[in-house]
Amino acid sequence: MPTLQITRTTAPRLRVADPDLGFGQVFTDHILVLDYTQEAGWQNARIEPYGPFTLDPATLVFHYGQAVFEGFKAFRSDSGGIVLFRPADHIARLNASCGRLCIPPLDEALVLNAVKTLVRLDADWVPRTFGCSLYIRPCIIATEAGLGVRPSKTYRFFTIMSPVGAYYREGFRPVRILVSDRYARAVKGGLGAAKTPANYAASLLAEQDAKAAGFTQVLWLDGVERRYVEEVGTMNIFFRLGDELVTAPLEGTILAGITRDSVIRLAHQWGLRVSERRLSVAEILEAHAGGRLQEVFGSGTAAVISPVAELRFAERSLMINQGRVGAWTQRLFETLTGIQYGKIEDPFGWTLPILP
Ligand code: COI
Repeated sequence: MPTLQITRTTAPRLRVADPDLGFGQVFTDHILVLDYTQEAGWQNARIEPYGPFTLDPATLVFHYGQAVFEGFKAFRSDSGGIVLFRPADHIARLNASCGRLCIPPLDEALVLNAVKTLVRLDADWVPRTFGCSLYIRPCIIATEAGLGVRPSKTYRFFTIMSPVGAYYREGFRPVRILVSDRYARAVKGGLGAAKTPANYAASLLAEQDAKAAGFTQVLWLDGVERRYVEEVGTMNIFFRLGDELVTAPLEGTILAGITRDSVIRLAHQWGLRVSERRLSVAEILEAHAGGRLQEVFGSGTAAVISPVAELRFAERSLMINQGRVGAWTQRLFETLTGIQYGKIEDPFGWTLPILP
């Protein structure tokens, strides 16, 4: 295993108290960096003091967006121990995203070890409050300078870390969602399954419109027929229809969420009926009219589980469970966060202890 050079900071960064943490506004003391060249591959793994990069204005990532990223978390238990939640799955997904963006893959074991070292070095930054965590953001950018549209010959991988609180201002309170019939996030064959900045850029205008209309986020429909639900904001989405838990299938247009997978595996373990299948707006309206649309929630690393109170389709507004958090939503939230914060046993091996 290549060595990891560590240069410790001499100028510790300003801290923010846990109750004042937002999402991704403060960053820890150190950053992990690797560089790629065609001759040497991924090399020069190093941890350095957090700080800006200097890049040529012609750097390819600025012009054509060749980049991928990930997001996962470190949690502190009541006894002070620190775990990472499903880090290997996130690093594997980073490599899957690399494949779609023509970026050379990384050695997953090397990245995991280097991230563990980074978190241990900045361990004191892992918040001590339930609901807060250390968000870990690996990212890869194309670094060659030039304006020809082609894959870069050089890349930089880096990981920054941010102590975070709730992603949405509402926290675990149910949010209002506007169904977007105007914009599309992704189509089959596009980038939808990759965690790449372009997907988030594509979402901004729809989200801005939704916010202006008093909603928290957008529900994305499929980009071709505009009939089937795909994602909500930056999250996967689940619907409880009677005794069935339904979520969109992984057919190339949505992200294979790690929290989505955790929800599905928990629901299976509890003996619930889970379907990864297409779900149309018509079926949702019909289920609501028949009293079978019982719960709706988003799932993602940042917000974990985000209950939905209201879905607005054009002129029709559906209240879900009278705007209250449903029983399955509550149980999933409590179980997932319980596992993450070490309050309940982890039968799946999702948590990786890195400090006792
Ligand atoms: C997540 O739910 O973890 C996300 O993808 C949001 C992130 C882009 C801030």
